[in-house]
Amino acid sequence: MSYEDFADPSFSADLIGWQKQHGRHALPWQNTRDAYRIWLSEIMLQQTQVSAVLGYYARFLERFPTLQDLAAAPVEDVMAQWSGLGYYTRARNLHKCAQRVVAEYGGVFPSDPALLAELPGIGRSTAAAIAAFSAGARAAIMDGNVKRVFARVFGIDTYPGERKTEEAMWRRAEALLPHEGIESYTQGLMDMGATLCTRSSPDCERCPMQPRCVAFATQRTSVLPVRKPKKTTPEKQTLMLLIAHEGQVLLEQRPASGIWGGLLSLPEVGGHAPADEDEPLEVDEVAVAQAVQQFGIMESQERLLPVTHVFTHYKLHITPLLIALSGRSALAADARYMWLDTARIADAALPAPVKKLLLELLGNRADAQARMF
Ligand code: ADE
Repeated sequence: MSYEDFADPSFSADLIGWQKQHGRHALPWQNTRDAYRIWLSEIMLQQTQVSAVLGYYARFLERFPTLQDLAAAPVEDVMAQWSGLGYYTRARNLHKCAQRVVAEYGGVFPSDPALLAELPGIGRSTAAAIAAFSAGARAAIMDGNVKRVFARVFGIDTYPGERKTEEAMWRRAEALLPHEGIESYTQGLMDMGATLCTRSSPDCERCPMQPRCVAFATQRTSVLPVRKPKKTTPEKQTLMLLIAHEGQVLLEQRPASGIWGGLLSLPEVGGHAPADEDEPLEVDEVAVAQAVQQFGIMESQERLLPVTHVFTHYKLHITPLLIALSGRSALAADARYMWLDTARIADAALPAPVKKLLLELLGNRADAQARMF
């Protein structure tokens, strides 16, 4: 789709008309072309609501009435004035930006959005807002509110955080810019997003976009914009050796770092990756035999049903391999391994899923229990 395909002069005309009649006109950073005041407001309003900004804005301007005052102040004073507003990188960048504008532009903000966007803390959208409000530059803004308005009005049903969708929204935003009235248009987009086209209770009856709104027409305001798709949690597989002999089970102390750091657990053996990742792990017989031989003579081996443990960032499928020994070798002078009486499993420092697996096995399976004793 080309740039022109998104053009529609009636969009900006309707929005400008609505903003003039019903939009916000008395915010403290409006009715001025003072780039310092406009820049300061746009930085404070990044990720922060108007109501939270109002007090900070007034106090900040009292303490730093001009760009030169701000540039000359110690950064600690700037941080102190910002304290409580959050996202403190904004304050450090604000100070750096003031110093750059003084040093590189003689204390006068450039009006070209491309130059503004090279300054610290000023991204593409903030640059456009500053240039539009302070110099009438024809530049497009794009923030969470605008994305919500666009997703609904144009029925965009892909996630706006996705690069392709965001790029398409920027192209749309550029194509829809009016040739006159950029200030009212830009403010109108902000006002609509903040006052009418809200996330959870849009006021469609008062909305100037209602006749053209795809979400309204198709009753999808509650599902647009679509939410961030849930990542499918990664899944891992492991084979655990449950080596039992005379009422005891063999445990290994895990390394101090990594999952279950320092806890006792069952020894693990790498398996063959199954052809289909949904399939259980294939047992590597050679690796198992090698791992077991240091502990004694393997009498029998039985693969049990896998159990799944859900961590915050992944799922772990544990395939237990129950191994009975007919004879036990003395443990090497390696403190990593120990034999534990099965009666003490409940009180041992074991990872929760391993303890559960062992206790269930002892409690529920007479045959397994018999082999472990
Ligand atoms: N959010 C970002 N910029 C804004 C502005 N100029 N007015 C109101 N809310 C805003």
